Amino acid sequence: MNIGKFYSKPKHTFFSPSWEYYLGQADVNNPFLVNDLKALILHKEKDILTQFAGMGVDAGTGVGAESMTAKYRFYNIFDWKEPVAVAYTEFVKEQYKMFLKEFGLSIPPTWGRCWANVLRNKQSIKSHNHGCDSYSYLSGHFVLATQNTGTYYQNPADLTWHKEENIPGRLTFFPSYLQHWTDEYTGGEERITLAFDLYVADEEFRKTNHYGYFHDEHDAPEIQLL
Ligand SMILES: [Fe+2]
Repeated sequence: MNIGKFYSKPKHTFFSPSWEYYLGQADVNNPFLVNDLKALILHKEKDILTQFAGMGVDAGTGVGAESMTAKYRFYNIFDWKEPVAVAYTEFVKEQYKMFLKEFGLSIPPTWGRCWANVLRNKQSIKSHNHGCDSYSYLSGHFVLATQNTGTYYQNPADLTWHKEENIPGRLTFFPSYLQHWTDEYTGGEERITLAFDLYVADEEFRKTNHYGYFHDEHDAPEIQLL
């Protein structure tokens, strides 16, 4: 796993900003997993969009309400039973454990929710984050198909940003609070990524109405990963 560390220079005044964040990246060593997942997402897309038509919001991503992104509450790829989906979830779990190990952290009880982003020509994902409250933890994405696009992560203090190339088969972990967005996609085929949020499900978390802890009858449950 590659760890990217991004941090401020030492503070010279009491009021100087101080920040640091980490990205974790790993490439899956199995092209079949990438291709089969891509096919599975495209196979399920129409059914999911039909079943949940008129429901959900795109959470500021700009991809529109009738998108796989905006239906993210209503399905959870971490709970899919197809062998390729199970293999993907196992890959995320293994890499998550490795990411925490890099910092000497023990593995807390962790819950997750995973959805797909299917973009077509001229679409992009606009600047957004996955949660800035006091429970904010880790999010990530896994690239299935794209050409010449990147994801941009924004420094929380001076709002500068850096770009990470989107490479099929690459998994990236980032702090959920980080503001991020993508290039506009200009390609003939679909640009497909999977995105996910991880939650640390301690007692306090369970008692709250945390933004990611849904209760609506249509909501797919979060899955305990570890
Ligand atoms: Fe995102």
